Amino acid sequence: MPQTLKLASRSSLLLRCFPEAWAEVGSKSPEAVVKRQKSLDDIPGPTTFSFLADLFCRKGLSRLHELQLEGKAKFGPVWKARFGPILTVHVADPALIEQVLRQEGKHPIRSDLSSWKDYRQCRGHAYGLLTAEGEEWQRLRSILGKHMLKPKEVEAYGGALNDVVTDLIKRLEYQQHQSQSPLIKDIASEFYKFGLEGISSVLFETRIGCLEPNVPEETERFIQSINTMFVMTLFTMAMPKFLHCIFKKPWQKFCDSWDYMFAFAKGHIDKRMAEVAEKVARGEKVEGKYLTYYLAQEKLPMKSVYGNVTELLLAGVDTISSALSWSLYELSRHPHIQTALYHEISEVAQGEPIPSASHVARMPMMKAVMKEVLRLYPVIPGNARVISDRDILVGEYTIPKKTLISLCHYATSRDERFFPNPNKFQPERWLQKDESQHPYASIPFGFGKRSCIGRRIAELEVYLALARILTHFEVRPEHEDNIVRPMTRTLLVPEKEINLQFIHR
Ligand code: HEM
Repeated sequence: MPQTLKLASRSSLLLRCFPEAWAEVGSKSPEAVVKRQKSLDDIPGPTTFSFLADLFCRKGLSRLHELQLEGKAKFGPVWKARFGPILTVHVADPALIEQVLRQEGKHPIRSDLSSWKDYRQCRGHAYGLLTAEGEEWQRLRSILGKHMLKPKEVEAYGGALNDVVTDLIKRLEYQQHQSQSPLIKDIASEFYKFGLEGISSVLFETRIGCLEPNVPEETERFIQSINTMFVMTLFTMAMPKFLHCIFKKPWQKFCDSWDYMFAFAKGHIDKRMAEVAEKVARGEKVEGKYLTYYLAQEKLPMKSVYGNVTELLLAGVDTISSALSWSLYELSRHPHIQTALYHEISEVAQGEPIPSASHVARMPMMKAVMKEVLRLYPVIPGNARVISDRDILVGEYTIPKKTLISLCHYATSRDERFFPNPNKFQPERWLQKDESQHPYASIPFGFGKRSCIGRRIAELEVYLALARILTHFEVRPEHEDNIVRPMTRTLLVPEKEINLQFIHR
């Protein structure tokens, strides 16, 4: 492209994102506008010392989501800070986030500093979809996309997921029976088990017993390993690599957790594959409706199947638990919204005791509740992108290629310019078209080619669970004044136990 054209198209992008810049520059030529572009050095931000003090002395690692709000208030929508060894540019405005994402290229990179990748290299494991890059990622994405993104394919998991929901209801009743009380303590821990059982049913089409009265020890350990791995992710990424050999514990714990998760996934895959092989040997027809089977059919090397299934199991646990826990927490505190949702479920299901995938697809209030929950509590409060092959424009700055750009979703989804009363739970805001909303202000499943591949499965799972829980129970808080705030543990999770009363209807 000729140089002038390049400059003109760059500056037109700049002006679309920043019309006020146009007013300021008036009739100046595009070249003049581009010259006004500032560099990385001009971006404001805290000193390394004060940022590290925030992180390690003011419990900053668990308050990373709040640091987004503080950073934006102090420095504006773009600021830079060092997270451990890595210089990060933080972007906390929907138009600027859109600008970054629209330049992400053919094979978007989420972040290339990942200790997750170091672990896989160290152990010789294959990357799964979460960690793969480039052509390898593209190939995995198109294989998995066929079975995880098409609405009809996803609807087919509805039956298996509903069986898991039936066991969840039984388990909630069992817990009440054991404690002789409608109160269920620490609902997130119940929903971790539900999440793991749900994603296992999709992956293996078998049940692994997470919702039985006696939960198998290996599932408890798997869930514990995910927790530890997420906490250690922040520590291992905040430390320069050479410190891993001096302060060994975080890296060691991180690796032990991954070792357990990989071994757990491999155990289940091998078991399922052996069952299939036996069937084939007996001359029986094999008709798998589960994801692992599809992956094996695609002739992916087994190493890659292990890598992908481990990452999908991991992705399906905390996300589902967090979305369900916060949904019930907010619904218990807003009884009129809970009642409206209950009526919607009853009207659409028309006496059917088990609402199906096609029922929940016709529940606008249900969808609005989930959107609002994920706006207030985005499971991934800060996502990231690295543009590896060229410098990009972000607002008035030129960001050099390979810079880690942190997208501050928690800050934008609580920005009152786009969501009046931003800290209030108001699902109705999603029911009417609101001109003030910006399409990139709340994007809990990410954006574009690299967005969440499990989105449809997650939505279906949460809708089916909520529909059935609210059909069986009215959910009330333990005490009105028991406020639970979110904290960051790589993902956004409840800072303390959420205890709720489940009153039989
Ligand atoms: C409420 C539930 C969930 C939320 C809010 C959520 C959110 C996200 C977000 C924000 C991303 C990053 C997107 C981006 O970078 O643009 C992501 C990626 C991903 N999610 Fe989810 N997720 C959820 C549930 C699930 C489930 C249940 C699965 C598995 C079945 C899953 C599998 C994945 C995978 C594999 C990726 C990586 C995609 C890629 O890199 O191509 N997620 N998710």
